[in-house]
Amino acid sequence: MIVLGIETSCDETSAAVARNGREVLSCIVHTQQQHKPYGGVVPEIASRCHIALLPGIVREAVETAGVPWSGIDAVAATRGPGLASSLLVGWSMAKGLALRLDRPLIAINHTEAHLHSVFLDPAAPDPLEAIPMLGLAVSGGHTSIFRIPKYGELHLVGRTVDDAAGEALDKAAKLLNLGYPGGSVIDKLSRTKTPGVYTFPEGNVREGAATGGLRHDLCLSFSGLKTSLLHQVTREPPKSDDEVAQLACDYQEAVVRAIVKRCEKALGKAKYMAVGGGVSLNSRLRVLLAEMCAAHNVRLLMALPRHCGDNAAMIAGLAGMDRGISSPESFSLDISPSWPVD
Ligand code: KG4
Ligand code: ZN
Repeated sequence: MIVLGIETSCDETSAAVARNGREVLSCIVHTQQQHKPYGGVVPEIASRCHIALLPGIVREAVETAGVPWSGIDAVAATRGPGLASSLLVGWSMAKGLALRLDRPLIAINHTEAHLHSVFLDPAAPDPLEAIPMLGLAVSGGHTSIFRIPKYGELHLVGRTVDDAAGEALDKAAKLLNLGYPGGSVIDKLSRTKTPGVYTFPEGNVREGAATGGLRHDLCLSFSGLKTSLLHQVTREPPKSDDEVAQLACDYQEAVVRAIVKRCEKALGKAKYMAVGGGVSLNSRLRVLLAEMCAAHNVRLLMALPRHCGDNAAMIAGLAGMDRGISSPESFSLDISPSWPVD
């Protein structure tokens, strides 16, 4: 099954063609640069960019794949979660294309697609056999932990109760004048330092806090961390690049350790762990997750770097695994900005 996938949930405009769920024939990703001066994604600008760019990107994806339009078996797009005005562009275009090509339309959940992205690596095991699995989706928009007893069955067991991990890193980067988005800059600076100079809170969620019925010790809170950094730099503004790097390093360490600690607690009987989303590019997170998984005899599956951030290959891939909501039901669906994965 050859699927054309479309992803426009935030500020990446992307289209891809994938065969049978795992083989990526093409994947075009355009990251919008227009948001940098604002220090965050501006929804109105994002949707305008999607409208301007998406037709050309879809055409390029199909041409690069070397597949004729008649060779596309289905059209899939992200239906949620994400920014409403951004989702609307990709979902509407997918509807139009599916009608024009007379092919099924498949609504895909963005969070589930991040977890499927690990299987776009040809070296990954068969998705149907990589169970039981723990899934971590960690990006600028979400930080969620899932238990996956069988492929396609995702049970949310932990999540952030406020900011996502990427958001926490981006806000810290802004405070430290490191630009936007700052996750990768913090990662780079942190590699020049050893953690242990500044102390930041562990991101604990107190018992009784609103977690939507989830265990409080599997949930995380990053807002206190950010406030603590704000107090630190107000009290004692960093006097050199060296001090900024040290602050970035200790802050990143707190974010990463908070995530790894929850994942370790949530492991249960898992034999595999899948990690997807922009923050999974983080080198320290990769090291600590690898150590934790090795200690528990769990095989760690990480997405290839080009599939960590938002991309349409994971959308086309997941649709090719027979996941998502297909026609005729999909045609009557609207976007769903907070579509839960389970
Ligand atoms: O998955 P993604 O492209 O978009 C969302 O769905 O949010 O993730 C973007 C996030 C941003 O917050 C960015 O700062 C973060 O991923 N990020 C990183 C790194 N590279 C990107 N965070 C930590 N370390 C990195 N190397
Ligand atoms: Zn994402």
